[in-house]
Amino acid sequence: MREKFLYLITYGCQMNEHDSRKIASILADYNFKTTNDANKADLIILNTCSIREKAEHKVYSELGRLKKFKERNSRLIIGVGGCVAQQEGEKLLRRVSHLDLVFGTHQIHRLPQFIARAEEGERLSETVFSNGFECLNLNNFKENKGRVCSYITIMQGCDNFCSYCIVPYVRGREKSRLIHKIQEEIEIASRQGIKEVTLLGQNVNSFGKDFPKEQSFSKLLSVVDSIEDIERIRFVTSHPKDLSDELIQSFGKLKKLCNHIHLPVQSGSNSVLKMMNRGYTREKYLEKIKKLREVNPSICTTTDIIVGFPGEREEDFQDTLALLEEVRFDGLFSFKYSPRPKTKAASFPDQVPEKTKIDRLSILQDIQADYSLSSNKKLEGKIEEVLVTGISKTHPERMTGRTRSNKIVNFEGNPGQVGRLVIVGIKEAFQHSLHGENINS
Ligand code: 5AD
Ligand code: SF4
Repeated sequence: MREKFLYLITYGCQMNEHDSRKIASILADYNFKTTNDANKADLIILNTCSIREKAEHKVYSELGRLKKFKERNSRLIIGVGGCVAQQEGEKLLRRVSHLDLVFGTHQIHRLPQFIARAEEGERLSETVFSNGFECLNLNNFKENKGRVCSYITIMQGCDNFCSYCIVPYVRGREKSRLIHKIQEEIEIASRQGIKEVTLLGQNVNSFGKDFPKEQSFSKLLSVVDSIEDIERIRFVTSHPKDLSDELIQSFGKLKKLCNHIHLPVQSGSNSVLKMMNRGYTREKYLEKIKKLREVNPSICTTTDIIVGFPGEREEDFQDTLALLEEVRFDGLFSFKYSPRPKTKAASFPDQVPEKTKIDRLSILQDIQADYSLSSNKKLEGKIEEVLVTGISKTHPERMTGRTRSNKIVNFEGNPGQVGRLVIVGIKEAFQHSLHGENINS
């Protein structure tokens, strides 16, 4: 079979990044090799995200840019997958005449078959939500070569329906993967050289609730903790309302579970949290952070915040700033609210003016910049264990890796250290990274 080339463009979160690796992995079995050169491609796939902003517009304009490749090579297949594909479906095919294929978030496993049909000249859109485990059980083994860290899907979908969020509409209902399948995948990945796994799900704390005999996420964590040769475990994303005491205790008990939690708070105002349908109050959130720090005093915390949610008044925003000051997160991902199709909040009255959103975002980010830097500064002069993942992108003469608390460390080392845990003395801290010196080899 002739070798073919796949040019893959990925937008969005870790879930999408992981889906792209699964796509590359499945297509490798059909002789597709990934390329960074669109001119060489036999197949171009856009794996899209629709969580914020005018995501659809971005996809349409990227497709416009790709038209010239189709004009030069009429055999080229262009496909769109991911959340925008799920959201727009056939509409994409109708609006973009040079588009061949639209596939939904639950259809990745059928991609080879779709491509074969497109190669026969069919234009197709396949976006039904599947109820089966096919998609959940896809892996990225073919993409693990040379890597140290891997994502592992443990569940898909979300049942929470936060009023601003499109995820439940584009990823479907919560569905957990069987524990033994997850275990099997991690065991194989560890034999391939993977040392760190990040368990992925839109809402990992709900893991196993959809099984006839309920399984807990903490139980899954202890199973993963016992897999030989895996050195580190992480997970994203947790919902604060479902963060159980049992899970909090895992941060004190499990030796491989890293001391970092990403716990999106979204707002520090109770009235905004209520309108967001988050299912917890500011006080409950603070209590969870307190417990986490009691169980593991070195735990690092990061969060997501949305500013300018409909009805957010100046005093609500001040509550968010006060929460930031109280918790002193190690890192923050912050966003301006953007109305999304189908979501409740899109039709709420009192949409906040764009200028106010921009101002609030910039105030929030300036404040957090100081907190992130001072959190990193505390590590100056300390010794940290770093899992070496590769050569630093910013300083090619240095190696890069992460601490157990998920901080990026660049240090003078050598490529032979990739995949190893090394001990690094931290010399200098910046807002987003640390600079250190390897002291054990
Ligand atoms: N507008 C802005 N931010 C959003 N997020 C999710 N939906 C929206 C939206 N409509 C943010 C939340 C979530 C993160 C992944 O993206 O903070 O935690
Ligand atoms: Fe979206 Fe809320 Fe589900 Fe997270 S928990 S994916 S924010 S609906």
